[in-house]
Amino acid sequence: MRTAILISGRGSNMVALIEAAQAADFPAEIALVAANLPEAGGLERARLAGIATAAVDHRPFGKDREAFERKLDEVLRVNQIELIALAGFMRVLTPWFVTRWQGRLINIHPSLLPLYRGTHTHARALEAGATEHGCTVHFVVPELDSGPMIAQAKVPVLPGDDEASLSARVLEQEHLLYPEALKLVASGEVRLETGAAAGG
Ligand code: GRF
Repeated sequence: MRTAILISGRGSNMVALIEAAQAADFPAEIALVAANLPEAGGLERARLAGIATAAVDHRPFGKDREAFERKLDEVLRVNQIELIALAGFMRVLTPWFVTRWQGRLINIHPSLLPLYRGTHTHARALEAGATEHGCTVHFVVPELDSGPMIAQAKVPVLPGDDEASLSARVLEQEHLLYPEALKLVASGEVRLETGAAAGG
């Protein structure tokens, strides 16, 4: 499965996916890393790993999210991409894009979804006095951080934790979880159910 990773930042999850995909029996090939910010640090890391990169700056498109996505979509199609893994991609995607890639678009979110959708998840977990926290890989649907779960990993919240220590503990799990989840989707072991509503 020709897979693109979309990033906005440092790309540590991207590196974990690239490394995992180097195994001969891994069912996804990382064929492209694309960023919405040309200055995203992960682009250079991808280049160093020998992966094709693209930058589609969202800023010239202003408020026209779909125009930005049409450009991004074009880059993905030119590169014959079949599956997309969002890894710290900080743009909300429109229903147009999400529907187009339905079932072939996954994301990692730093919380035990459905808890703490959106940003500042670690601070919010600490504030709520949570005793456990973690990360979730899910299919992307138009509603933010809401699609069906593919895999989840838990970590304990320890006495004395702050945002930095907790996010570091979660990130370590993200780097293990995301390659496993990508494997499940790329191999076809896990699929997004569409059509009839799933009961229960
Ligand atoms: C990760 O915590 C991921 O869960 C969230 O954004 C962060 C990206 O980090 N969606 P990195 O760029 O992969 O290092």
